[in-house]
Amino acid sequence: VPTDVRDRLGRPLRDLRLSVIEACNFRCPYCMPADRVPDDHGFGSAQRLSFDEIETLVRGFVRAGVTKLRLTGGEPLLRKQLPELIARLARIAGLEDIALTTNGSLLAAQASALREAGLHRITVSLDALDPALFHALSGGRGRVADVLSGIEAARAAGFAPIKLNCVVERGVNEQEVLPLVEFARAHGHVLRFIEFMDVGTCNGWQRERVVPSAELRDRIHARWPLRPLEANYRGEVASRYGFVDGQGEVGFVSSVSEPFCGDCHRARVSADGRLYTCLFAAEGRDLRPILAEGDAALASLLAAHWSRRGDRYSELRGSATAPRRHVEMYLVGG
Ligand code: GTP
Ligand code: 5AD
Ligand code: SF4
Ligand code: SF4
Repeated sequence: VPTDVRDRLGRPLRDLRLSVIEACNFRCPYCMPADRVPDDHGFGSAQRLSFDEIETLVRGFVRAGVTKLRLTGGEPLLRKQLPELIARLARIAGLEDIALTTNGSLLAAQASALREAGLHRITVSLDALDPALFHALSGGRGRVADVLSGIEAARAAGFAPIKLNCVVERGVNEQEVLPLVEFARAHGHVLRFIEFMDVGTCNGWQRERVVPSAELRDRIHARWPLRPLEANYRGEVASRYGFVDGQGEVGFVSSVSEPFCGDCHRARVSADGRLYTCLFAAEGRDLRPILAEGDAALASLLAAHWSRRGDRYSELRGSATAPRRHVEMYLVGG
């Protein structure tokens, strides 16, 4: 299989974002609002890929050109024996980077096991420092103190820098922006602000509730002057800014105000083994049958499938040709 397969827009396949579980212990209103997603939602453990299947899957993606893996959920730390899975994946030759996106609530107990298993990087979602607001934004399920201990445990286990993701919504958590910057600067974390996206079908997205990154950047710059930094790698999702005083950096993920589909080399796979070639795709392709044939067979299928890819939803958003049905965020982990 050639590892330089390109899609219809010339984009290679380099990143895999793999959801290991569709369940979450939070109910963030922008992702799985409690009134729309019942507690017992999901397809359950019987339908989830086994660790053997996941290992074959990742080997197949690496054969097809993937060098970076991000494990997501739902909440990935709810998946039993996750460190064991990571240890298996860390042994795959050609996989250069294994990262994890978590809500952090269960991180304190697991951080050192994740580190020992070979996980390289951790990103924690953190939308507010104020305990009452945090609690509300988790759908009444999370405590910010737990997340802060999780972040601290990850740092103590050797993860550095830790990335923090904050989704900003107009009229909801704008007032948390500067306190979060102050917190991240003080602890050496890399904070990224994410524009509220129209992902999934249940968050009641309205453009008026998006706070454009340029506005946040100006607000932060007024307090702590910023200067643009080069991307760490081609196609980096966040645009980076360094503090002029040298104390760290912030990032902005501007999928609404400045779409970045032109460099999008990410594939997503849900916990039940469906492949989505865009965060906003409607249908996934079931990879389970081909997994039974092994990683080489999967790699051939991926090359063929990827070469037909033309997704660029964020660039089409609002136009008549933009796809209307979207997979749920919690099935593909963002
Ligand atoms: P690294 O740069 O490798 O550290 O990771 P990342 O920033 O790509 O991953 P992360 O999971 O932290 O993503 C940050 C935010 O950007 C999340 O809310 C994602 O949903 C969003 N995001 C990531 N990739 C895409 C994408 O391809 N399209 C869109 N629209 N949003 C994305
Ligand atoms: N818009 C923007 N970001 C979102 N996330 C979840 N739902 C949305 C949305 N509607 C973010 C989470 C987490 C990452 C995986 O995706 O907050 O940081
Ligand atoms: Fe759970 Fe993350 Fe979705 Fe919040 S954004 S409900 S923590 S999967
Ligand atoms: Fe990639 Fe789709 Fe996001 Fe565009 S909208 S950057 S194609 S995942």
